[in-house]
Amino acid sequence: MSSLRKPPKLNSGSPSEPVVFGHYYLLGLIARGGMAEVYRARRIDSTPDSVGSPDSVGSPDSVGSPDSVRALAIKVMRPELAKEARFVDMFHREGQLALLLRHEAIVETVELGDFDGQHYIAMEYIGGRDLTQVLRRCQKSSLRIPVPHAVHIGVGIAKGLDFAHNLVDRDGRSLALVNRDVSPSNVRVAYTGEVKLLDFGIAQALMKFTSEIGILKGKFSYMSPEQIRGMPVDQRTDIFSAGIIMHEMLTTEKLFRGDTEFALMERVRKADISPPSKFNRRVSPELDRIVMKALARDVKDRYQNSADLFTDLSEVLEGYRFDIRELKDFMRKEFKREYLKDQDESSKAAVSIPLSERPVEVPPRFANLRAETSPLPQGAEQVLVSAPLQSIAQQSVAQRSPMSPVQAQTIRRPDDVMSAFADEPVGEIATGTANKGFWSRMFKKRK
Ligand SMILES: Nc1ncnc2c1ncn2[C@@H]1O[C@H](COP(=O)(O)OP(=O)(O)OP(=O)(O)O)[C@@H](O)[C@H]1O
Ligand SMILES: [Mg+2]
Repeated sequence: MSSLRKPPKLNSGSPSEPVVFGHYYLLGLIARGGMAEVYRARRIDSTPDSVGSPDSVGSPDSVGSPDSVRALAIKVMRPELAKEARFVDMFHREGQLALLLRHEAIVETVELGDFDGQHYIAMEYIGGRDLTQVLRRCQKSSLRIPVPHAVHIGVGIAKGLDFAHNLVDRDGRSLALVNRDVSPSNVRVAYTGEVKLLDFGIAQALMKFTSEIGILKGKFSYMSPEQIRGMPVDQRTDIFSAGIIMHEMLTTEKLFRGDTEFALMERVRKADISPPSKFNRRVSPELDRIVMKALARDVKDRYQNSADLFTDLSEVLEGYRFDIRELKDFMRKEFKREYLKDQDESSKAAVSIPLSERPVEVPPRFANLRAETSPLPQGAEQVLVSAPLQSIAQQSVAQRSPMSPVQAQTIRRPDDVMSAFADEPVGEIATGTANKGFWSRMFKKRK
């Protein structure tokens, strides 16, 4: 059964012009994916003062910070999907699993919800690029991802997979979680050098329904032979997909390609693969062995669990004495323009408020006036002097007394503003304090 009401088109907002979406502000479109649109976001009840530096992963300081202050990304499902009641059901049911995935190598899901007919998933925002973008940039600039960087990213992927694959329910029973969509676009490389897996938990629902509505788009290139055949899959399908990503990072070439969809599927099914060292002589025999084992066509010959893949890749990485700062520098250098833009947008997005909620602009002189006046004693009223009056008062002060303009700006009661310009200004000021000097001569006590 499909819903009749078409959800309204979303206004994406921008980092400096947030728009309200449920209990979030949308702060601009990040990207349009095959099945969803991803927006930068912040909770409406966020407190701008406590937002950290845009240099951290989630720019601002997202890791470990409370939901109310962190930078978020909201993925809103495309209306075609939202029309499918079965998809919506599955999205919300399966998506609950995503909430359990709290691990440094998996993007943290904050909430699954719907607002105004739009189904969304809210997550921590990861300032960085996805691996598709990294690979594309490398191809364009005839650059290779340095082997240690690629191994570090592989370690991150294996670490995230290992955590998710071994997740158990409250009774200690395995949840048998399988991502099914481990692909470069779902690996986010942060500008800090950290690596995070995206779309865990919702992939099954997405894959099922997108294949039905025909927008599988590029997914075949990252499937395992058993997955492409439509056979039952287990966690080892994710290991094969991780192997494809490793191979592509090391060779800067797509592993499976085909002129037609059918030809592509045939290639994946056969999984006739050359070792990465054939394309990149910096790849060691040991690294070749690991990648080829992850890419074994037969599941029995493959790594049986992601923990073993993680251990083997970590050992190779140790040999390189790799420092995460190398990947951080690589990302910031190769994506300099994007990084600076992200920093700028992150700092704007952390504090901006919608136009309709902004206080009326106060002219700068007026604003100073408020900031510089000293707190009043209890019971005293403070009145801001309009700009023309203020300048007259200052001139008057300058002519008559050596007092500072700050003192001259503190006018305590509406009537006194006018009496300040009376011919014979004598008496005491309304507060009864500081009633000496200029103001005591200036104000006449009312009888
Ligand atoms: N939490 C996040 N923080 C920052 N960027 C994100 C986040 N989640 C997704 N993105 C980015 O948004 C873009 C779109 O993601 P999305 O998952 O919708 O599309 P995709 O991965 O290209 O395709 P698919 O629909 O197959 O998943 C990608 O560049 C992705 O890296
Ligand atoms: Mg994705």
